[in-house]
Amino acid sequence: MTETILEAVKLTRDFNVGGSLFAKPKTLRAVADVSLSVQKGETLAIVGESGCGKSTLARMLMRLISPTSGHMIFEGRQIEQAKGRALTELRRDMQFIFQDPFSSLNPRMTVGRLVGEPLETHEPGLSAKQRRVKVSELLAQVGLRPEHADRYPHEFSGGQRQRIGIARALASGPKLIIGDEPVSALDVSVQAQVMNLLSDLRDKLGLTLVLIAHDLAVIRHMSDRVAVMYLGAIVEEGPTDVIFAEPRHPYTRALLSAIPVAEHGRTRHQIALTGEMPSPIDPPTGCRFHTRCPFARAECRSDVPVLRETDTEPGHRAACHFIEEIAAEAAPPAPEGGMGLTDAARARFALYGDAIAGVKIRPRSET
Ligand SMILES: Nc1ncnc2c1ncn2[C@@H]1O[C@H](COP(=O)(O)OP(=O)(O)O)[C@@H](O)[C@H]1O
Ligand code: SF4
Ligand SMILES: [Mg+2]
Repeated sequence: MTETILEAVKLTRDFNVGGSLFAKPKTLRAVADVSLSVQKGETLAIVGESGCGKSTLARMLMRLISPTSGHMIFEGRQIEQAKGRALTELRRDMQFIFQDPFSSLNPRMTVGRLVGEPLETHEPGLSAKQRRVKVSELLAQVGLRPEHADRYPHEFSGGQRQRIGIARALASGPKLIIGDEPVSALDVSVQAQVMNLLSDLRDKLGLTLVLIAHDLAVIRHMSDRVAVMYLGAIVEEGPTDVIFAEPRHPYTRALLSAIPVAEHGRTRHQIALTGEMPSPIDPPTGCRFHTRCPFARAECRSDVPVLRETDTEPGHRAACHFIEEIAAEAAPPAPEGGMGLTDAARARFALYGDAIAGVKIRPRSET
């Protein structure tokens, strides 16, 4: 039986932007009404283009910033207002891994101090010697050696620095770790090693992981469920295999088919996204994806679609008025501006080949 460890209920976060002596600030809704639940022991991936609100959501879940409205429940306790001791306990139970390990590690501290520091807060009873032993154990757990404790972050490669960040996150004995694009600053060759490490640690320590990524391929092999975000909202969520094999939201389909696939010497793109993601200061009315959706109809401009169950498996939900029709349809209509992706869009998605394997969408040559 699954057990919910973390739940977000209608989380919203606004920022005031652009205010000056002459202009009133505008409201930027970075996260809009997001509800999600994380089950104990699972890996949930949150995926979406840059600027869609992933980091803001992750920071709220960690209580690094407060929500404008909404609730968060961790192990049955409401946490959006947690302070003092309750917040210290949360900091122990939930840890964060940052995208850029270098800027998140104090360059003047040795690795031993960096990893040992959380122990001082969360295990104040340890003697200095016991702490050193624990630091060595933590370093071993992430594939580093005890002598690394005396060195400084700049003496390590990017992948090793991310291992130090992971050791530091593990020091308090967390139950849940949130990684905000933990490998996207690393060389592609190192990304898989760090993802495999996280996956091994999850299994060994019984951790729950929430991984944020803009790259579907990165999380495909290690996530149990995926939530796809667009312009501050979740537009589709479900078991990873189902999302990859039978995506139902046009945005997810576009994300998946934006991955260029060499097929019989040709590259195919099934659905192309035209234009940029609109600004969260002035989001589109109705379905927030309608300005870029090749399936959009008149009602999409006025009616907001709710996240609802699809025809595939329980727990697979999508926020689109026409999921049934789109699923039944053989091929989407060509969006205005042709089928090609702009270079800018391709760069933003940064999605790679193997993610598309198994996606049941009709190759373009058959349409
Ligand atoms: N502190 C802030 N002040 C103003 N706007 C912000 C702030 N943090 C994020 N934003 C805006 O919120 C939106 C979502 O940002 P972010 O959560 O960083 O997205 P992602 O992590 O998906 O790239 C963006 O439009 C971004 O410019
Ligand atoms: S509701 Fe309309 S605009 Fe939105 S994803 Fe569905 S078809 Fe596209
Ligand atoms: Mg981010």
